Amino acid sequence: MIVVLLGPPGAGKGTQAKRIEEKLGLVQLSTGDMLRAAVAAGTEIGRQAEAIMKAGDLVPDATMVHMISERIELPDCAKGCVLDGFPRTVAQADALDRMLEGKGLVLDRVIEMKVDEAILVERITGRFACAKCGEGYHDTYRQLKVEGICDVCGGGAFDRRADDTVETVAQRLAKYNAETSPLLDYYAGTGALASVDAMAPIAEVGQAIDRLLDGSVED
Ligand code: AP5
Repeated sequence: MIVVLLGPPGAGKGTQAKRIEEKLGLVQLSTGDMLRAAVAAGTEIGRQAEAIMKAGDLVPDATMVHMISERIELPDCAKGCVLDGFPRTVAQADALDRMLEGKGLVLDRVIEMKVDEAILVERITGRFACAKCGEGYHDTYRQLKVEGICDVCGGGAFDRRADDTVETVAQRLAKYNAETSPLLDYYAGTGALASVDAMAPIAEVGQAIDRLLDGSVED
C-alpha cells in the first residue's frame, strides 16, 4: 500500500505517519527527516539544503525526486510506504506517478490533513524531540510525563528544529499554499484523495485515517 499524507507544516503528517508505520508496517518516508539527516551528516545534499530549509523554502525538485526514487527501491519498502512531505509540487507528483508506474504500483490513498492556519504556529513552535531517541513532544499537546526526562528512553536532552520559528513557519506556509496545495486539484480526479479533520485530537485523527485505510487497523 502506498499512502501520501498531504497538509501544511504542523498539520500532523509526521505524527500520523509514525503511527501508520507502527500499526500497518508501512515504512515512513519523511523527506524532511531525510534532509535533516543529510544536514547533520554534512553531505553535499545537506550542505545545499541547510540554508533553503532554514529560510522555509523548497529544496529543488530534482534533488527530492532522486532522494525518494533511491529510497523507495530499498527492500524495506516492499510492503509499502507512507510518504510524509513528498510530493510537494506538481513536478514531484508527476515524477512519483512515473516512479510507481515503472514498478507496477499504484497510489492507494492521498490523505489531506485539514487544519486551520491559525493553530499551526502554536503547534510548530511548541514542538521538541528527544535528542537521543527522536521521540516527539509538544509543550501543550504531548507533554513529558516527568519534566526533563524522555518517556521512551529516559534521555535528558531535547532539540527544537532550526526552522521551527515564527518567521520561518510563515514562509513554509506561503510555500505550501503556492506550491503544494495545487496537488489537491491534481489528485481530485484520481479517486485516491480523501480528507480528515486534523484539528481533532491526535488519537481521533488516527482513527479517521484508519477508517480511510480500509479499516484494516484497530486501536
Ligand atoms: P518537513 O520536515 O516535511 O516539515 P513540514 O512539512 O513543514 O511539516 P512538519 O514536520 O513541520 O509538520 P507535520 O505536519 O509533520 O506535523 P507534526 O506531526 O510534527 O520539511 C521541512 C523542510 O524540508 C521544508 O520546509 C523544505 O525546505 C524541505 N523539504 C522537505 N520535503 C521536501 C520536498 N518534498 N520538496 C522540497 N523541499 C522539501 O506535528 C506538529 C506538532 O503538532 C507536534 O508537536 C505534534 O505533537 C502536534 N500535533 C500533531 N497533530 C496534532 C493534533 N491533531 N492535535 C494537537 N497537536 C498535534
